[in-house]
Amino acid sequence: MEQDIIIAIDGYSSSGKSSMARSLARAIGYRYIDSGAMYRAVTLYAMRHGLIDAEHNVDTKALIDSLPDINIDFEIIGGRQSTILNGEDVEDEIRQLPVSNNVSPVAAIPEVRHMLVTLQQACGAKKGIVMDGRDIGTTVFPNAELKVFVNAPAETRAKRRMLELRAKGQDVTFDEILSNVKQRDFIDENRAESPLRRAEDAIDFDNSNMSIEEQDKALLNLFYNKVNK
Ligand code: DC
Repeated sequence: MEQDIIIAIDGYSSSGKSSMARSLARAIGYRYIDSGAMYRAVTLYAMRHGLIDAEHNVDTKALIDSLPDINIDFEIIGGRQSTILNGEDVEDEIRQLPVSNNVSPVAAIPEVRHMLVTLQQACGAKKGIVMDGRDIGTTVFPNAELKVFVNAPAETRAKRRMLELRAKGQDVTFDEILSNVKQRDFIDENRAESPLRRAEDAIDFDNSNMSIEEQDKALLNLFYNKVNK
């Protein structure tokens, strides 16, 4: 029997990496961890406690002081994986635009990253895991056996995100989504702490012209090529 490995899937926002990672984990019986959901949950906590103002300024000191009070977990509820913040299912709320608009400055705070990276590393202690994010192949699991870097142009990603949010009944325009995607790309690539960067040993994966089935199959092939070597 092949040995369980760690699979790190990094890439830009709305590149489709989360659904690819989730499908792969399901297909091969691995645990899936969405590291972005953790940054989103911390952001929601900060918003609810009045630690972020309308201009997206974060009260960094107060948030750092609050970190010991923030507990994040994942549970399967009604057949889907939900993010649990201090015992509450916040899966839907963390996906909405107010959280998306505030998450990058929160994810740039080194203390927040240290706490979440430690949590992420603990999740991978037994291997057999697929984790997606921005720094999984570089910082969280630099020794991951399989690293994939997913990319597609900002306009393609914004269009996907718009359709996804509209399907959930949210009233959003292409322009506001595109500007959110570009702004997040900029902050993710330029922050001092663990900026979004392709690991040198990552496999590039551009899924702009792939259907969901094609991208799932291509990723599954990468996995089998790796474990059957
Ligand atoms: O993947 P996502 O859009 O749900 O991520 C939300 C935010 O969290 C995004 O702005 C980047 C940040 N993030 C990060 O800095 N590091 C990660 N490993 C995952 C997400």
